[in-house]
Amino acid sequence: MQTPHTDDPARVAAFEARIARGEVIEPKDWMPDRYRKQLVRMMSQHAHSEIVGMLPEGNWITRAPSLRRKMSLLAKVQDEAGHGLYIYCGTETLGVDRHELVGDLLSGKAKYSSIFNYPTLTWADVGVIGWFVDGAAIVNQTMLAKASYGPYARAMVRICKEENFHKRQGYESVATLARGTPGQRAMVQDAVNRWWWPSLMMFGPNDKDSPNSAELTRWGVKKKGNDELRQRFVNLTVPQAQAVHLTLPDPALKYNEASGNWEFGQIDWDEFWTVVKGDGPCNRERLAARRKAHEEGAWVRAAAEAHAAKQRASTVAAA
Ligand code: 3HC
Repeated sequence: MQTPHTDDPARVAAFEARIARGEVIEPKDWMPDRYRKQLVRMMSQHAHSEIVGMLPEGNWITRAPSLRRKMSLLAKVQDEAGHGLYIYCGTETLGVDRHELVGDLLSGKAKYSSIFNYPTLTWADVGVIGWFVDGAAIVNQTMLAKASYGPYARAMVRICKEENFHKRQGYESVATLARGTPGQRAMVQDAVNRWWWPSLMMFGPNDKDSPNSAELTRWGVKKKGNDELRQRFVNLTVPQAQAVHLTLPDPALKYNEASGNWEFGQIDWDEFWTVVKGDGPCNRERLAARRKAHEEGAWVRAAAEAHAAKQRASTVAAA
């Protein structure tokens, strides 16, 4: 159900005409309340996802099998932190305070991507996350790099460059395991079996069940629907799995010559909504870890505040 605008209809019409002309909306431009609210919702959840997303992989930094793998994983996890902070900066151009957003995450009020509520049980999970999760993020974020809101679109351009490294390092690790010992092959096949369907869920519910997609599409934030992006990810990933002789856990997968799509089976939407609503395998553990990190970081925030106050005082004194 479309939420009625609280804004002046003429201004909304002029805004929508700008969107229709493909114009980029900048922070100082007038925008409807709903446009701003939808962007804050989507961008803050994206930022939360990047920050929480560090946890599953970070779990393996101390146990990486070689210095090369450790360095690659360290770089990736550090990148994710940067992505989160970068997108929080983007939300602040909409007049929100990131501390408020982080408070919503820590209180459990805000969402983050369901994919990060699954456990990383073996080293192979790290490679499969790079391949599937960052691969899905690239499909989604390449589309968002054309979003109507300038700061978000520009953030996506920069982030996608790093996501490509994330996907490549992940797929290389997967390919190495896939041609390794029988034990390594079994380990990476097991990781593929566990991460495939949750990765498809990253793209959100089917468009027909999506309460936000129509509005976001009308306003040019989303250029493509959840279903189209999911299908693109499947089409890209199936040949990659075949190339390393790994089997995707979907007996219904079949290539449709006419459409050029790899048709796939039914997603378990009960599992999806259970995880989105907070009852996934690791939801509580992830929030507990973020709350602990936030508490342990209190002294850093206090020190930064004290330093900033001292700077302000000396600036006033010098004026
Ligand atoms: N996980 C958690 N919540 C999800 C979800 C998912 N995979 N998919 C949908 N939802 C939530 C939505 O937030 C919405 O709830 P809300 O209205 O309370 O916010 C509800 O389910 C209905 O979904 P909609 O399709 O209506 O929501 P959207 O139109 O916002 O689509 C989305 C969901 C595809 C995640 C979209 O928000 C999006 O593209 N967001 C930006 C990209 C993003 O956040 N990616 C997350 C992964 S980040 C990542 O992969 C990091 C990489 O470095 C590894």
